[in-house]
Amino acid sequence: MATEELISKLTSLNEEFANALIQLSSEQEIREVQAKYLGKKGMVSALMREMGKLPPEDKRTVGAAFNKVKSSIAGAVEGRLGELAAAAEKADLERTVDVSLPGRVRASGHTHIVTQVRDESVAIFGELGFEVAEGPQIENDFHNFEALGFAKDHPARDEQDTFFVDDGKLLLRTHTSPVQIRTMLSEAPPIKIVAPGAVYRRDDDPTHSPMFGQIEGLLIDENVRFSDLKGVLLHFVKRYFGEDLEIRFRPSFFPFVEPGAEVDMQCSFCIDTDSSRCRVCKGTTWVEIGGAGMVDPVVLEHVNIDTEKYTGFAFGMGLERMAMLRHGVNDIKNFYEGDMRFLTQF
Ligand code: PHE
Repeated sequence: MATEELISKLTSLNEEFANALIQLSSEQEIREVQAKYLGKKGMVSALMREMGKLPPEDKRTVGAAFNKVKSSIAGAVEGRLGELAAAAEKADLERTVDVSLPGRVRASGHTHIVTQVRDESVAIFGELGFEVAEGPQIENDFHNFEALGFAKDHPARDEQDTFFVDDGKLLLRTHTSPVQIRTMLSEAPPIKIVAPGAVYRRDDDPTHSPMFGQIEGLLIDENVRFSDLKGVLLHFVKRYFGEDLEIRFRPSFFPFVEPGAEVDMQCSFCIDTDSSRCRVCKGTTWVEIGGAGMVDPVVLEHVNIDTEKYTGFAFGMGLERMAMLRHGVNDIKNFYEGDMRFLTQF
């Protein structure tokens, strides 16, 4: 190739590049095209290899022409990149921000309704001086049954629908009453506790779930009477469900209390209206809230408490049931399904 031809090719490469550059609008594209011209395998480098074949006296001029084209391309690239950056900055500055747009509120979590029932109940009994006691959910036969007066062949065991663990050596506690036993074994009277927690039974229908919460109460002291039990439960019902509500006891049997009772309160949903169609109490005006009674001396003997000196009462209530009665919920499954449309109501 002759010197003139080389120089004219170089010049047209330079122009070609300048034209290509204006079409490009991203740094990546620009760098790619730049490499096509100036890179080792690029078009300018290909021409440069031709330079070796030129007469020595021309090499200087041609060399200078190469350098000019290289710096022209490099300069054009920098210029174009600068233009693009400036345009981007301008667009950024011109972007309007609507300061009147409401902010995005993030939903914050809250305690589950059954946890609320537990905490509020504990607080109300706390006002009366009851302290919280706890026990394990995996229990043995002694604490869950034996010490509570369920002898081995006692028919009341059948009603507990027990889940057994470890080939029957252990079980999932069927009620919070074993916490009574654990507390009386570790503390001397006077004892005044409430024990909230999960319990398990092989039960499953709209008002029963295989796992649910209970709150147990136990008071052991000198001269404790049934009227004390009534006073405590009445106070609780009035504080938690409504000032106007009365309670009543229906005789019932639990092996660990004597006398034993089921406790009802007046239905808060229809107290001021026609009860006949009330779906909460089914027209009876009363709803059951739990079991209670005077601690059977047999139980006190199991835990070595002097039955001549001490008496006591105990009660147990279902937490989900309390939530259902307070809020008129009719399917216990609502509490476990995690549907936010249900849960955020409380
Ligand atoms: N533990 C009984 C139950 O779950 C309830 C209860 C507790 C009854 C305390 C009387 C006294 O059915």
